[in-house]
Amino acid sequence: MHLIETIGLTKKFNGTVAVKGINLSIREGICTALLGPNGAGKTTTLNMLTGLMNPTEGSIDFHEDYSGDRRKYLGYLPQYPKFFGWMSGLEYVVFAAELAGLSKEAAKSRAKEMLELVGLAEGGNKKVSGFSGGMKQRLGIAQALVHEPKLIILDEPVSALDPIGRREVLELMKQLKTRTSILFSTHVLHDAEEVSDDIFIMKKGEIVVEGSLVKLQNTYQQPTFFIETEMEMANWLETIKQKEWLRHVKVDKNKATLTVENLQTARTELLSDKTLQELKLIKFEVAKTSLEDLFMKVMK
Ligand SMILES: Nc1ncnc2c1ncn2[C@@H]1O[C@H](COP(=O)(O)OP(=O)(O)O)[C@@H](O)[C@H]1O
Ligand SMILES: [Mg+2]
Repeated sequence: MHLIETIGLTKKFNGTVAVKGINLSIREGICTALLGPNGAGKTTTLNMLTGLMNPTEGSIDFHEDYSGDRRKYLGYLPQYPKFFGWMSGLEYVVFAAELAGLSKEAAKSRAKEMLELVGLAEGGNKKVSGFSGGMKQRLGIAQALVHEPKLIILDEPVSALDPIGRREVLELMKQLKTRTSILFSTHVLHDAEEVSDDIFIMKKGEIVVEGSLVKLQNTYQQPTFFIETEMEMANWLETIKQKEWLRHVKVDKNKATLTVENLQTARTELLSDKTLQELKLIKFEVAKTSLEDLFMKVMK
């Protein structure tokens, strides 16, 4: 089921067209990534979906089950969230819950529950000014979840974090997928690959590639082998050049990168290749290729 559909969604800022007539379908129950470099129009798009900004043209339709004031159904964590450093984590989430219309009692119990969910049960009594970047983002996610929205929208939730903070937040997002739909933006392909089910790649205000992660991987990924031997490989490579499963070879003395058509066939043949064995294998690695090549191509 589609939670949100946009048709021809456009935003112009006197002169510049930040978002150029995009059609998005955000599915319910999954995690969707809006991926693109800085300036692609991600924040502008998310701001229109949350209702913080009006589109210049085009429409945003929520599924008929979610009609009326869309704020009820949405939780939002902006790209540059502002916290009150003097508040405790708990006070902050209670504050957000009361803003969302919960009673004092309900706000408090719900806030505690959310802090626990994001792994900040103990941080609840500490002042936010002492939080790490990862803790602040998790607090921001607790705040976004407090009124039990159908969808949380997270604008670059991991971009400003160090590797530890990034890991914390990505793991949390994976865990949250079972509870709510997620739409998040990022300029890092690996983040999108790690947690999302659907990906929209945006560039200069337009969607240039879209689809489920699985579909994109099947379409664009090619299995790759990294092989390293004690002896040089040039002569051996001549012997496999005509193989129908081989797509591309790059060799540097005793190291080779082979892009292949069919992983299974290639692996079986390579591992039983006597000439290769005589070169004395040091490394035989099947790479879990990413969508990097596609992404780089698109971004050029
Ligand atoms: N309030 C604004 N006024 C004028 N131009 C803006 C405004 N907000 C964004 N832009 C422009 O719109 C484009 C898209 O910006 P943004 O949506 O922030 O991209 P992203 O989030 O992908 O980095 C950029 O060229 C940016 O300079
Ligand atoms: Mg942005």
